[in-house]
Amino acid sequence: MYISYNSHVFCDYFYNMENLNELRAVFLEHLKARVVEKEPAGLYNPVHYILDLGGKRLRPLLTLLAGQIYGAPVSKTLDAALAVEVFHNFTLLHDDIMDAAHLRRGKETVHVKWNENTGILSGDAMLIMSYKLLESYDVATFKPLMSLFSRTALQVCEGQQYDVDFETRSDVTVDEYLHMISYKTSVLVGCALQMGAIIAGASQEEQERIYNYGLNLGLAFQLMDDYLDAYGDPATFGKEVGGDIRENKKTYLYLKSIENESYNDALLNWFAMDYTTMDEAQITEKKNAVKELFKESGGAAKTLDAIDYYTQLALNNIKELAIDETAKQQLKDFSLKLMNRAS
Ligand code: IPE
Ligand code: IPE
Ligand code: MG
Ligand code: MG
Ligand code: MG
Repeated sequence: MYISYNSHVFCDYFYNMENLNELRAVFLEHLKARVVEKEPAGLYNPVHYILDLGGKRLRPLLTLLAGQIYGAPVSKTLDAALAVEVFHNFTLLHDDIMDAAHLRRGKETVHVKWNENTGILSGDAMLIMSYKLLESYDVATFKPLMSLFSRTALQVCEGQQYDVDFETRSDVTVDEYLHMISYKTSVLVGCALQMGAIIAGASQEEQERIYNYGLNLGLAFQLMDDYLDAYGDPATFGKEVGGDIRENKKTYLYLKSIENESYNDALLNWFAMDYTTMDEAQITEKKNAVKELFKESGGAAKTLDAIDYYTQLALNNIKELAIDETAKQQLKDFSLKLMNRAS
């Protein structure tokens, strides 16, 4: 697994599902070896808890894949991949506090299992751990990695703030929504890919191209996350179904549904309600009613169209990359599989 991809001899071997499974296995071993802090347990147990809960490992796999495609040995991209995954999991600890979410990957969220202070401080520690992981790169690589990583991290915070601001606004536009999700989600997907390309020494142009692929993939990914939040199967989704509706999140589903005049008033009424003043039965009634309105108004169907649209843009981005056809196919398969997910 630690062989650099330089020769076409390895082509068929590397660009298949087995490759992805092996990359995942190597990544998980690296995670186990590198995240070893134990004391104080109150700080680090939640870190191990969230990192061991699993998840799709989308972002680190993209770093490893991009590195591999542009010719870096997997061993060189592992720390960057781990930095991205630890950072992502840090954002989840804080996001679950902000979204009052009780369920993550089918288990209790950290702030529910422990408490909010734990979620905050263990999250802070993870943010710092993610930066520390980049220390292993030599100066010439470290500098561009850091600059990309820090810019991205700040954009994620900005996106998260917009997401929260929009909960109490009734005049959010689709453009504002797209800007918000590109910051809270897409930029990290682009960053994960570009980091792999940086480590492999890919050209600036190619770095930008693979980053842009990540941006469009990230938009499709977050739109699908919003769709699954409403219509996902509780048995596989791993999060509270309807959590976005409870929280009055201004998702694409909502914004496209209220464009239909016949459903505007009803939806505005539901989304003016504050769940902290409602009991469980009322929250369930709201979720069911809103899900129905999203469907009847055409908003749900338009969201599926938008997912297709941004997935297609991402696939077009892949075509423009200066990489061989087998590598393109690998990225294409990965993208399509991601849009057919259940969690
Ligand atoms: C959840 O990310 C947060 C979003 C940006 C939607 P993922 O859906 O990648 O979460 P895991 O890591 O697979 O659990
Ligand atoms: C989360 O968006 C984005 C970040 C964590 C930065 P969501 O709030 O939709 O993510 P989930 O659905 O809780 O995973
Ligand atoms: Mg959330
Ligand atoms: Mg959120
Ligand atoms: Mg979500």
